[in-house]
Amino acid sequence: MFRKDKSIVGLDLGSQVVKAVEITLEGPEPVITGFARMEIPPGGETAEAIAQVFQRGKFRSRNVVTSVSGQSVVVRYITMVEMSDAELRQAIRFESDKYLPFDSDEVVLDCQRLKRKPPSSSDGETGANDQMSVVLAACRTSLIEEQMREVAEHGLTPVAVDVDVFALANAWELCGLEENAAAEDEEQAIALVDVGATRTSINVMCDGETCFSREIGIGGADMTQAAARRLGVEAVEAEAIKREAEGREAEVGRAISPVLEDLASEISLSLDYVENREGLRVEEVLLSGGGVLAPGAVSFVEQTLGRSVRTWNPLEGLRVSPERVDVEELEASASSLAVAIGLASRVRAA
Ligand SMILES: Nc1ncnc2c1ncn2[C@@H]1O[C@H](COP(=O)(O)OP(=O)(O)OP(=O)(O)O)[C@@H](O)[C@H]1O
Ligand SMILES: [Mg+2]
Repeated sequence: MFRKDKSIVGLDLGSQVVKAVEITLEGPEPVITGFARMEIPPGGETAEAIAQVFQRGKFRSRNVVTSVSGQSVVVRYITMVEMSDAELRQAIRFESDKYLPFDSDEVVLDCQRLKRKPPSSSDGETGANDQMSVVLAACRTSLIEEQMREVAEHGLTPVAVDVDVFALANAWELCGLEENAAAEDEEQAIALVDVGATRTSINVMCDGETCFSREIGIGGADMTQAAARRLGVEAVEAEAIKREAEGREAEVGRAISPVLEDLASEISLSLDYVENREGLRVEEVLLSGGGVLAPGAVSFVEQTLGRSVRTWNPLEGLRVSPERVDVEELEASASSLAVAIGLASRVRAA
């Protein structure tokens, strides 16, 4: 009778669109109990968009999880000798300089051992048994502090800060769509690829666990710019044409194809690299983010990668509370909500 439902708002401070999704645990079941999104107009402020989002969305909770991305964030996959978690934390504190381009006193660090054993070395001498794979994430303290301040200014309580690429993986896991049984002889993996406005996040998952991630500085804003140049219009108009290309899909598709080409070739390089390093096969590429809505984007990427490529819906498998959420608007934005949903999925650990 006095049970208190737990809720968390995943607040994705995208460079073009601020998105907030609230997940409440009703018993064991995660339910979407709040949602709002707001575009940041050219020259506009993130702060204004956050204010609007919390005015419009019906959120129960003021507890938010945000994420960081970009050049102030570094994620490394490293091999270390087997040790306890406590020893690992110590070791990372002293050895982080080896792996990071930052001074260790100006970053917030976190690390986690992975279940997956390190790929065996080429001489085959050192068995992987006394070694472990570790993922190390570091973010400049100044970026986290700035974000905390921004969130607090809106009367919100930051409960955790995540990294975009990991949030993507958490959303995938929450949806429980990963029941791809691995083939006998070859390990199968999938790649989650989120194409935003200014960047694209890649996370390769093997057995439900990350084994590679990377950010590429190409996104929908580059497509808009390419369209503006090619069609000879202002950016604002190019953005509108890109979104409502009715009848002009082929023209827009041609205009943005150099950007898609660059993006697809970067993704391809990343997948080749991880396949080689880990000795696995990336069977499927799952796209999300607003950028993949551009005309022809999915099929272009599919042709270049020569793998199965599709968009996925991070709302799939999640119940939505229709009294609190504009379901139509939520579904219309589904493809770009993966990060926000992944952030809110932390409610399970709250
Ligand atoms: N219907 C559409 N057709 C084509 N592109 C679209 C459409 N809707 C949104 N976009 C593009 O998607 C991008 C915004 O997507 P998203 O919300 O995922 O980005 P973001 O999270 O703000 O950016 P980032 O992750 O890079 O910081 C913009 O570049 C926008 O032009
Ligand atoms: Mg984004």
